[in-house]
Amino acid sequence: MNKLTEKSFPEGFLWGGATAANQLEGGFQEGNKGLNVADVLPGGKGRLQILKNPGFDFEINTEKYTYPNHEAVDFYHRYKEDIALFAEMNFKCFRMSIAWTRIFPNGDDPEPNEEGLAFYDRVFDELIKHGIEPLVTIAHYDMPVHLVKNYGGWRNRDVIVLFERYVKTIFTRYKDKVKYWLTFNEINSGHEMPVQGLGFAIQEESDKYQPTFQAFHHQFVASSLAVKYCHEIIPEAKIGCMILYIPTYSIDCNPANILYAQQESRFLNNFCTDVQVRGEYPSFIRRYFKEHHIQLEIQDGDLELIKQYPVDFISFSYYMSRTEKREKDASEAMEGNIVAGVKNPFLDVTEWGWEVDPIGLRITLNELYDRYQKPLFLVENGLGANDKVEKDGSINDDYRIAYIRDHIIQMKEAIEDGVELMGYTSWGPIDLVSAGTGEMSKRYGYIYVDKHDDGSGTLERKRKKSFYWYKNVIATNGEQL
Ligand code: BG6
Repeated sequence: MNKLTEKSFPEGFLWGGATAANQLEGGFQEGNKGLNVADVLPGGKGRLQILKNPGFDFEINTEKYTYPNHEAVDFYHRYKEDIALFAEMNFKCFRMSIAWTRIFPNGDDPEPNEEGLAFYDRVFDELIKHGIEPLVTIAHYDMPVHLVKNYGGWRNRDVIVLFERYVKTIFTRYKDKVKYWLTFNEINSGHEMPVQGLGFAIQEESDKYQPTFQAFHHQFVASSLAVKYCHEIIPEAKIGCMILYIPTYSIDCNPANILYAQQESRFLNNFCTDVQVRGEYPSFIRRYFKEHHIQLEIQDGDLELIKQYPVDFISFSYYMSRTEKREKDASEAMEGNIVAGVKNPFLDVTEWGWEVDPIGLRITLNELYDRYQKPLFLVENGLGANDKVEKDGSINDDYRIAYIRDHIIQMKEAIEDGVELMGYTSWGPIDLVSAGTGEMSKRYGYIYVDKHDDGSGTLERKRKKSFYWYKNVIATNGEQL
């Protein structure tokens, strides 16, 4: 089939699931692993508020809080069983991240930690044994705490050299096993969630602009270096950026609202992507920098490096859309994945208040492809929901099947629109710890894990109804939905 007649998923489409080390592995102090940001984040709905507290000290306080990421769902010990289940579902691809602190426990250690390197060798070998392609995120919300406390996170330019050491180490070690890489998970979320994305806490809202954008600049340089070394060390590999994409609608046809929605969208969805894909700071950001008194420190050679080493493809997460209006009061604010606007009267919401919008995915795919003309990879999408285990042990998650099915239909439409889509890895194919709230009860999986918000549970794995459904979707390359 050529691109002009393509009406379905291309051959070799990378179906699978996506995870992150800190939400999946557990074993937070095993194998000489050092502490990372996720290890010090308390569980529960108040997590984001605690993070926004100017006094947040990146310390563990077990008397006050619980820390679900410490054990997570114990992939560290159960990876063989879990990968066998992914293989049973016909996965072609598995997105995972390497925990930086398993490789460099403090971030600035002169030598890597062999136990950490060997762990990922075992995981990659197991995936390859089952014919599953690893797709590896280099940094997924887990900066070493030592770099946070002693360097100030990504604000500090010295972190670039440490990151360079880390990426060279993993590219060299895994060059025969991993052909798909991603740089920073949801890099653009750093503006809203600097603790997780950029490795520092903001004290005052008004103080956030200069350090946030300086940290972004350091990440852009680091990302270009990762592309450079990836191509040098593994010439046949592809490396992508990873962004949080939320298409932004205007509440109505008032031009003032349309303009506002356009500006919000460009800021969230395009700023980082423009730099990482086009290799240049977009012109629209100049005005923002001026109005917020941001003066980046850019060293000689930085901009040339960014221009010379853009990413090969664009990966992104898509969970919801957002609807905006220029003037709104706080009572109108919606819940959402990191950012949210006002209520869209045409959309239902999940139990966690995220608006469900499959057509928004088609809009997203078209917006991204029109602007960048680079291959796209949807590496996160899914429904966080409470699941009920019936008396007979079954879990009938028809709502999850409906959500994923509706989104796959829109992916198919977008492919017909001419979009080049490499694959689909839905979020959390096995239940794992939520990033936003640290809850276990917000489940995304096709595989249920017996683990609960209070830390209880046997960690036993069970196949949900969606497990069998997704297995067949992959077996038919998306023809039977
Ligand atoms: C993305 C993150 O923002 O959304 C994941 O990359 C996260 O780490 C996912 O888990 C879903 O969000 P949450 O808060 O429901 O876990």
